[in-house]
Amino acid sequence: METTISKLFGSYPKARPRRLRRAGWLRNLCATARLTADKLILPIFVKEGGRAEPVTGMESVAVHPLVELPKIAERAAKAGLAAVALFPRVPMGKKDSQGEEATRPDNLVCRSISMLRKELPQLAIIADVALDPYTDHGHDGALDKNGEVANDKTVAALRAQALLLAEAGAAAIAPSDMMDGRIGAIRSALDKAGHQNLPIISYTAKYASALYGPFRNAVGSAALLKGDKRGYQLNPANPKEPFRQAGMDVAQGADALIVKPALPYLDVVQNLSNHFPLPVLAYQVSGEYAMLEDSETFMECLVSIRRSGAVGIFSYGALRAAALLKQ
Ligand code: PBG
Repeated sequence: METTISKLFGSYPKARPRRLRRAGWLRNLCATARLTADKLILPIFVKEGGRAEPVTGMESVAVHPLVELPKIAERAAKAGLAAVALFPRVPMGKKDSQGEEATRPDNLVCRSISMLRKELPQLAIIADVALDPYTDHGHDGALDKNGEVANDKTVAALRAQALLLAEAGAAAIAPSDMMDGRIGAIRSALDKAGHQNLPIISYTAKYASALYGPFRNAVGSAALLKGDKRGYQLNPANPKEPFRQAGMDVAQGADALIVKPALPYLDVVQNLSNHFPLPVLAYQVSGEYAMLEDSETFMECLVSIRRSGAVGIFSYGALRAAALLKQ
């Protein structure tokens, strides 16, 4: 019997979906969530000197001394990656309760950006805006007398930090701190200083996640962190929050949105890309990447992130993925 459903979708034995799966050319033709190197962003950890050191909890990734940066960046450029994202391991002596080092023009990240701009001008550098690598308590901002991150005071520091990163030559500014009002504040600071064309890629849905462990080891904030970040990062159990955050970020001038972590939050990636006119990216975070030693599983997860609607993916395995794509 012909039902409405069988008219729309066809029914067996006339309809045989396997016809489209039998041959590689058809599988490829039908695919839309394709992965290519220019969809991938490589996060890089940088430290002042010494030797490259494996990240505890994510040993296939290293923290590199400044001198090695051009070599890694050149690999990223040669592989055709979209960009690199820099994260500093600031020496303990330069951390304080306010994260002052973030606003000093000669800090490690600013020097890294200037150096890469000189050596590899064609490579885009995404600069993270947040104070956690710089504070001696590991939080993303200055604390008030109750021990909570002080929103407005932190936003003032983030403005200054973003400006420095722009002056150093960042190709995009990515605030990952989750303070209220930071996008608007950073946008107006950038505009006033003549950086109207510099995009802000906002971590709009950054969750209070247990998957950031290796990252915190890499930047040296794990041992320092008192308490948790649930007072400012999003609650995994509140599905309305990302809509509100994204709406406010759009209104404040964000150019693109990031969801972080990726795999446990693909519903959020999908919702934001379906409902907002901005491109959505996803960050496959350190604790996620640490679980993906097997290459096939790794590539399958990247494709899943693309399928959920992400236009681009931050991944510690971006170079590995680019190499696997070439095979
Ligand atoms: C904080 C920040 C974190 C990550 C990137 N920026 C961790 C945190 O919130 O403590 C984690 C990324 C990762 O785990 O790969 N500004």
